[in-house]
Amino acid sequence: MNRILEKRQLSAEVFRMTFDAPNIARERRAGQFLIIQLDTQVGERIPLTIADADAVKGSVTIIFQAVGETTHRLAEFKVGDEIRNVLGPLGQPTHIKNFGRALCVGGGIGAAPLHPIAQALKAAGNEVSIVIGARNKELLIMEEEMRRISSDLTIVTDDGSAGRKALVTAPLKEACEGPKPPDIVVAIGPPVMMKFCAETTRPFGVHTVVSLNTIMIDGTGMCGGCRVTVGGQTKFVCVDGPEFDGHKVDFDNMILRLGAYKPQEKEAHHRCHLDLNIAGEVR
Ligand code: FAD
Ligand code: FES
Ligand code: MG
Repeated sequence: MNRILEKRQLSAEVFRMTFDAPNIARERRAGQFLIIQLDTQVGERIPLTIADADAVKGSVTIIFQAVGETTHRLAEFKVGDEIRNVLGPLGQPTHIKNFGRALCVGGGIGAAPLHPIAQALKAAGNEVSIVIGARNKELLIMEEEMRRISSDLTIVTDDGSAGRKALVTAPLKEACEGPKPPDIVVAIGPPVMMKFCAETTRPFGVHTVVSLNTIMIDGTGMCGGCRVTVGGQTKFVCVDGPEFDGHKVDFDNMILRLGAYKPQEKEAHHRCHLDLNIAGEVR
């Protein structure tokens, strides 16, 4: 059982939650994630990145967007409530070293998993520039946290309600064309955004790391749910990733596979709004 210690709403759909998990807090490294299960009777398992951790307090922090049934139910949890199962830290940690100039690009909720990586790159001596983007001002998160660690923060929104009216690929392309191009780009966000970030950097030969958000079930390499094709080889995002060379990922296949359960997800979310109790019966 993992007791919730803090909860804060960051935007209309995004929540920051800190809970007890002393062993994970001690062991975790940047880029790793958890699989959580809200209850064991009907609860599905969902992966969420470890956004922060405090080894002294024994707590870990997640930042999540309420998009479907499980994340909406998690958003209803209060301080003092307990999350039934938390598995982690999972996945390979980010390869951190002093690359020189690092450009970190986050789209939407992707800013949350990007933050610990940007922090670690900064701590390793990199000059860290950050671009964060969202559909509009209300959906923009982590601006202050990113400003604290970056030497140069660019905000973009699709509708121009905050920062520049542009997609994240516009400042990314300008940085690659500029006099001091990045030595490494880390791009995290929706699959389509990561695909186009990789296509933007490809002609410049700038190494581009992406963090893939495939469907996961066990998180230990057993079910195959998270498989992707990278450089013509099958990889399991949960154990081989979640980070890969963006220039080698078959994004089209990944996007196709991500849509496989859309009808079931839609139905589950619809039922959820009818106000289910924990055994799946309508109250
Ligand atoms: P549903 O309606 O069931 O699904 C909505 C969409 O979420 C689906 O279309 C699919 O794209 C994705 N999804 C659904 N089930 C799963 C699953 N079992 N595994 C993976 N994706 C799924 N989201 C955050 O908000 N913050 C994070 O820090 C974060 N980190 C992630 C790290 C990794 C390694 C991965 C793989 C995903 C991460 N996600 C994160 C995405 C998050 O897991 C999904 O938003 C969540 O599972 C949606 O569940 P749902 O029942 O609320 O929505
Ligand atoms: Fe099952 Fe990766 S989640 S193999
Ligand atoms: Mg779901």
